[in-house]
Amino acid sequence: MNAATQSVHAPPSRPAFGSVLAPTMVVAEFADGRWKAHEARATAPIPMHPGAHVLHYSSTCFEGFKAYRWADGSIHVFRMQQHIERMRQSARALVLPEPDAAQLAAMVLTAIERNRDSVPEAPGALYLRPILFGTTPNIGAAAVPSTEATLIVLASPVWDYFSGGIKPLRIFVDDEHTRTAAQMGRVKTGGNYAAALGPTLEARRRYKVDQVLFAPGGEVQETGAANFFLVRPGHLLTRSLDASFLHGVTRDSLVTLARANGFEVEERVFNVAEMLEWVATGEAALSGTAAVLAGVGTLVHRGEEYRVGNGDVGPVTRELRATLVAIQEGRAPDPNGWLTRV
Ligand SMILES: Cc1ncc(COP(=O)(O)O)c(C=O)c1O
Repeated sequence: MNAATQSVHAPPSRPAFGSVLAPTMVVAEFADGRWKAHEARATAPIPMHPGAHVLHYSSTCFEGFKAYRWADGSIHVFRMQQHIERMRQSARALVLPEPDAAQLAAMVLTAIERNRDSVPEAPGALYLRPILFGTTPNIGAAAVPSTEATLIVLASPVWDYFSGGIKPLRIFVDDEHTRTAAQMGRVKTGGNYAAALGPTLEARRRYKVDQVLFAPGGEVQETGAANFFLVRPGHLLTRSLDASFLHGVTRDSLVTLARANGFEVEERVFNVAEMLEWVATGEAALSGTAAVLAGVGTLVHRGEEYRVGNGDVGPVTRELRATLVAIQEGRAPDPNGWLTRV
């Protein structure tokens, strides 16, 4: 049984996040200066010229967000417009044809509709993955943008991120490498992930960690695929928005909810020394679409280990996560209008 045909209702064992693809994808092409009508197709390999711009000059970006099946069977997608705007901003930064916001929204809704049977029940979700890439066949185009592009919305049923139980993460603090080029941090492009992979695998091998927290020059930024929070009762600290890191939609949602619940939320630059002092008695957590909020139990920095609080996922982290997940799964009101019914 391959990944694409595996049953989505009763997975024999929990498949890894993203390893199962829903049967239908939605495709649009850009040529002659405009986006053509999109169409739903079977999720399958696509023909691509080996001279395609993306294969040589990495003209590509993507998004990731979720649609949830509520207890009454209805399906709701979380903060679709914010993800579409982030995709358009990534496209602009990479000089790729910018997706039309209304067309991309229609493509996402079509992908959910056509894959309705593949949307798992909570705590699972349908993960949506729009990708955009330059296809002009020209291998001398390092300094020339691609004039042709393809936009595809893929969907993937995902199950409970914490099915093995909530486990505190072990994080290596890297104050030597940068995750991305300075101006590319807020662009969701494959090259950034390729750049972070080597340092992440090296840290895994050397320190048996789950992830790397990049802190170039000692300033705390984010991990390879999540934003970073310091947490205490009634108080959050996270880096202020700048060009150096990805502006997570989950980060924004947590900041909004925490403020509404009376938390003091500080958004500012902080360094490794302040973080290590904070975690002696406080909590730390990673935020992102996949896990929502994942607690950190240990930080490893320059060969030293620092236990975060008592080494377990902290109570404030658990509560904040539960508050946001309840909204996503339709068990709590959505005062900010973050969900779109499909
Ligand atoms: C580098 C990076 N930072 C942060 C995030 C979290 O972003 P979001 O909360 O929008 O999923 C992600 C995940 O998309 C990411 O890849």
